[in-house]
Amino acid sequence: MTTARGLFPRWQKRLLLASALGLGLTGMGQMPIFSRYYIADLPGLAWLGDFRVTAALHLALAAVLLFVLGAMATAYLGAGRGRPMLTGPGKWRVALYAAIAATGLVRVLQNGAAPPLGPGAVRYLDWGHLALAMGLLAFALGWGRQAATQPAALTTDGKPGKEWG
Ligand code: HEM
Repeated sequence: MTTARGLFPRWQKRLLLASALGLGLTGMGQMPIFSRYYIADLPGLAWLGDFRVTAALHLALAAVLLFVLGAMATAYLGAGRGRPMLTGPGKWRVALYAAIAATGLVRVLQNGAAPPLGPGAVRYLDWGHLALAMGLLAFALGWGRQAATQPAALTTDGKPGKEWG
């Protein structure tokens, strides 16, 4: 049986946090705010003002984020009946990450050879992706330290569940 702390290994949580922070930073680089507000003029931060660099980093970090989210979802679903229940903040976390990943993936398609949305509708996709990113930031500041899971009513061996990490 998987140990209580073993559902989401620490490296997955750290990689999720690191990639989300990096995505927030490089996502802001998609809007030219670092050049506009002279942040890119600070020594060592010129790369933040280069759209090609921040766009490439955003996509590389998006691949990392999707990998970690996929690993976590696999572990959670694979835990079977003994899996812990999601708390309210846990459900919000799942919803926010899923929606950000979905809008981000559609944005990638939009930048490709066969864009799914017309020129008028694409702004809603951008605003949605940005609003979700801001929502994740607000969530992280307000509820980010609250546990995402709580003990399952029963584990697979019939014993009361434990708190899973
Ligand atoms: C925590 C996760 C993420 C955060 C905080 C984040 C944040 C942002 C922000 C603030 C922008 C600029 C606003 C906009 O143009 O909509 C942006 C743009 C973008 N994001 Fe993300 N993002 C995240 C995840 C992802 C993922 C998972 C993908 C792809 C699978 C993705 C793909 C994109 C693309 C392609 C753009 C550029 C849009 C354009 O071409 O103008 N993002 N992101």
